Amino acid sequence: MSPTPVTYALPTQPASYTWEATDEEVAARYGVDPASIVRFDLNTSPQPPELAARLLAAGRFESPLSEYPPSDYRRLVEAAAATYGVGADEILVGAGADEILDLVGKAFLPAGGAAVIPSPTYAMYRVVTEQRGAAAVAVSRLPADEGWALDLAAVRAAAGGAQVVWLCSPNNPTALAEPPGAISALLDGIAADAAAAGRGPAIVVLDEAYAEFVDASLLPLRVDHPNLVVVRTASKAYALAGLRVGFAIARPETIARIAPYRPPGSIATTSVTIVTAALLAPEAMLANVARVESERARFAAGLVAAGWQVGPSVTNFLLVRFASAEAAAAAAEALLRNGLVPRTFAAGHPLADSLRLTVRDRAENDRLIAAAAAAAGGSA
Ligand SMILES: Cc1ncc(COP(=O)(O)O)c(C=O)c1O
Repeated sequence: MSPTPVTYALPTQPASYTWEATDEEVAARYGVDPASIVRFDLNTSPQPPELAARLLAAGRFESPLSEYPPSDYRRLVEAAAATYGVGADEILVGAGADEILDLVGKAFLPAGGAAVIPSPTYAMYRVVTEQRGAAAVAVSRLPADEGWALDLAAVRAAAGGAQVVWLCSPNNPTALAEPPGAISALLDGIAADAAAAGRGPAIVVLDEAYAEFVDASLLPLRVDHPNLVVVRTASKAYALAGLRVGFAIARPETIARIAPYRPPGSIATTSVTIVTAALLAPEAMLANVARVESERARFAAGLVAAGWQVGPSVTNFLLVRFASAEAAAAAAEALLRNGLVPRTFAAGHPLADSLRLTVRDRAENDRLIAAAAAAAGGSA
């Protein structure tokens, strides 16, 4: 049976993004050396690719730094089109996937409208929705033992009253992808319902921020579904989160509906140059994905040995479940005392009893395993 969708009240004050404490705050609060702090909360990578330092040192960019970046980000768009196997007119560049989500909201979500959010998922979908003055319609995912999969019937039903459906696969923070065929079937269902009702289908945003970790993408579905907007980023597998580059990929007519909302020059010239090079030489990204895969298994095994309950993951992070929200908070405290920053979930969140942990490098992960073992009373 499908759970009843939850509509958050139309906001007078829209939801806003919440960060964990900064390095400086953690250092001050727990008396640890700021240099020893490791961020397990951001799903980033321990090192940028070597080409970033090389290109910065060379100092030769698309255009002089005294000028604005090229208005069409042409070389970056061409590199992205080649990487993703799509036309240049099917790409829109943004300052990170987050700016793409914002632009999609501006293009497609009217005030008083509604967006469907299969929950739990990435927090920004609700933030963007409520900032547009639209209602966030939360539809619960299936439980952990069913892989946190989408409740397809409930999402499809809710999509009938919405302008946007926010999907994320592999999903943050549940760390798993949708079962094969699920999103395709959902798109077909949404299209059929819209045709039967004599209206256009909702825009379906498919956030593939973690797609490289599964070496799979549903980009081909855009051919039959002009309402599909796929989101990609340089922040995760490419290990370039600080450069802030993301992409919307959709049929040209859909990109043309988003493009008018694009601000001039939101992507720094340095970012344009480095991400173009990183896309054209994917070896470092592939090595990062391979590193994550082997380190993830080792990290998870270490945490399980320490007595923690680790869910399966196909991404660069793990979801760890505790007996209660209080136990999760105590574990977070134990990590923070050691200068290790986990992602926590607020009281009332469906994952308030969980922590999300980025897979970092071997030495950093070992520090966290040792802290977990000590917190659980084991010998670290
Ligand atoms: C699912 C998902 N989408 C988008 C983002 C933001 O990515 P970007 O750094 O490209 O803005 C994140 C970052 O954690 C994410 O997990």
